[in-house]
Amino acid sequence: MNIDIISVVPELLESPLNHSIMKRAQEKGLLQVRTHNLRQWAINKHGQVDDYQYGGGAGMVMMCEPLYNAITHLQSTTTYDEIIYLTPDGATFNQSMANRLSLHQNLLFICGHYKGIDQRIRDHFVTKEISIGDYVLSGGELAAAVIVDAIGRLIPGVLNDETSALFDSFQDNLLAPPVYTRPADFNGWKVPEVLLQGDPKKVEAWRYEAALAITKAKRPDLLKEE
Ligand code: ADE
Repeated sequence: MNIDIISVVPELLESPLNHSIMKRAQEKGLLQVRTHNLRQWAINKHGQVDDYQYGGGAGMVMMCEPLYNAITHLQSTTTYDEIIYLTPDGATFNQSMANRLSLHQNLLFICGHYKGIDQRIRDHFVTKEISIGDYVLSGGELAAAVIVDAIGRLIPGVLNDETSALFDSFQDNLLAPPVYTRPADFNGWKVPEVLLQGDPKKVEAWRYEAALAITKAKRPDLLKEE
């Protein structure tokens, strides 16, 4: 998968996307993330990419021209499956969106700043608008990093244990069951017996029941979805 990200602060994306699993995904050639500094397409030598909003009001708006030039430049070599704008008024990101996005080959993310981007870029280029939650970040970069991480780990071959993403919280609308590792008895705190007995069917049944109980207790809304 190839992901291009347009940003005025690409440095914000470096650390989250160049460590741990995202780093390994890129080293294995399964994921390519390229960040593009919007200021390359600034309208003047001062690096201007934003301007006052028509109609007045506080806050700057990211201008059409730099974004138009950045997007069309990238489109000249890549056909994007989706052009995604990160914005608090987008659809709230969740696991099923991550699953669907992970099936694509080429994604372009646009990170907004200030008051956001000129509406005409949204109208003419953006195919999907995503929020990572009901709060306002100072820019779209951290949201882009969250989404790239969530979808990158779903690409086949990225996780070592190919099946482990299947048992994540939210797959099947259930939270994940509890997990334990050695020792079996720590300070008298014992691991549930069924996990020590080595019967895969019983383990699976226990995990399902535990996941269901946890979901009912913590997130009953998930059980009502779909
Ligand atoms: N930009 C600012 N706030 C955001 C949010 N909650 N989700 C996505 N992009 C954003």
